Amino acid sequence: MSSKSEVKLPAHVVIFPIPAQGHMNSMLNLAHLFCLSDFHVTFIVSEFCHRLLLKNTSVPATFAAYPGFHFRIIPDGLPDDHPRFGAQAGGVSPAVIHNMVPLFKKMMADKDLLASPHRRPATCFVADGSFSFAADFAEENGLPLLYFRTPSAAYSWAFFQVDDLIQAQEIPIKAGKSMDGLVKGIPGMEGFLRRRDLPTFFRTDDANDRLLQSLAATTRQIVRAQAVIFNTFEDLEGPILSAMLEDLPRIYSIGPIHEHQKSRIIEKKSEASIVAGNLWAEDRSCIDWLNAQPARSVIYVSFGSITVVTREQLMEFWHGLVNSSHKFLWVIRSDFITGEDGGGQIPAELIESTKEKGYMVKWAPQEEVLNHPAVGAFLTHSGWNSTLESIVAGVPMICWPYFGDQTINSRFVSEVWKIGLDIKDICDRLIIEKAVREVMEVRKDEFLERADGMAKMAKKAVQRGGSSYTNLDALIQYIKSLITIGT
Ligand code: UDX
Repeated sequence: MSSKSEVKLPAHVVIFPIPAQGHMNSMLNLAHLFCLSDFHVTFIVSEFCHRLLLKNTSVPATFAAYPGFHFRIIPDGLPDDHPRFGAQAGGVSPAVIHNMVPLFKKMMADKDLLASPHRRPATCFVADGSFSFAADFAEENGLPLLYFRTPSAAYSWAFFQVDDLIQAQEIPIKAGKSMDGLVKGIPGMEGFLRRRDLPTFFRTDDANDRLLQSLAATTRQIVRAQAVIFNTFEDLEGPILSAMLEDLPRIYSIGPIHEHQKSRIIEKKSEASIVAGNLWAEDRSCIDWLNAQPARSVIYVSFGSITVVTREQLMEFWHGLVNSSHKFLWVIRSDFITGEDGGGQIPAELIESTKEKGYMVKWAPQEEVLNHPAVGAFLTHSGWNSTLESIVAGVPMICWPYFGDQTINSRFVSEVWKIGLDIKDICDRLIIEKAVREVMEVRKDEFLERADGMAKMAKKAVQRGGSSYTNLDALIQYIKSLITIGT
């Protein structure tokens, strides 16, 4: 028999993100939204990422204000200097997952660790949508499962069609077939999606390609969850979300989640700080530099946490930016340059020439930069978080996608939302210069106007009455309905 106090205990959600920048930040935002709804949250984090959060952010301090929030720290089993993230592995080194998952399962088996007289056992498990183990694990343990797909809905939806695309001989993309040919067979994307816009894992000459097949299988797993959460909003990806309802009857689109967090904090008149789960130390000197620049005069250049370029590509970007005559703020991570002659070092001549026109940092406070009045456009790799942050800030984009979902995101930016240009697959100084001039001068007003309209829709979605706001309320109610008395 359950006691009265047990009945009153709030829902307890266990959240396990892939321990990488682009996944951690949106799932930390989700954790904060749950805390603001008075849920108890257990957040699984790798020792490596937890150390970075402690060192570089106020995230642990913010969550310390919620007694119901617990970090559970699990080692990822790799030495500190081991490369954890990269395009070849589909994002995150498999070793991270192989090492952490067994330890997570062991932790979950220890009921005393998760529950107490003041904390009920897990009500549900919110797993990163890229965790294929989660469906079996949840079923074996009788635990309701909610998957959180951190990239765009369009990316997931494309993976749902892999078998059909193979059947229709769209994959493998055969020699002789134009990369600019339209792809038939992805409902909601006919008429604008070209072969080159498909997720990069589709660019294979083997239909049985292991990474393609394993990512497709992982994506299809999400139908086994009781519900799927997306960091998107109906005005942005409505047709795709509707098409998905046939396979995924319970979808909650609650994004842009970083903005949603802000709107709920304000509405609740909470003293809580905004959770920004940036793993690396922000160099705030770039804000002082931006403060000295005229309105909309600067192009912000950043390629997220994983993209790397060769020295040759770096030089094309540099010449293109300098030749455009516009000022630029460029994030060059210490591991951004790859290849033998790059040596991981920033070339001295680049630093010299940048003094006049540009400013470089190793990591920027990106959201603040995008919302700075001096910023006029964003040269981006089209990571989903960066895309949403730019949309909310009303900043037009020049997209140079690197891998994964980025190739499809960038097509939506240029052809569906029409808030920027897509220069994928080309790294040429003339094209870069032309694109910067196009967005910063020639079509500036047109892009700014549409980006402003999209920003308004994004903000409206997360305000009371907006689609994402209503969906989050429904999600909260759904999780409460999963509470079984006595568990
Ligand atoms: C990865 C994938 O590349 C991306 O496509 C996928 O959607 C999520 O996982 P990442 O490459 O890091 O993520 O890109 P993105 O999703 O854009 O996330 C980067 C985050 O780092 C953003 O929230 C951005 O604000 C932050 N950032 C980046 C900074 O705070 N400062 C920087 O200097 C650069």
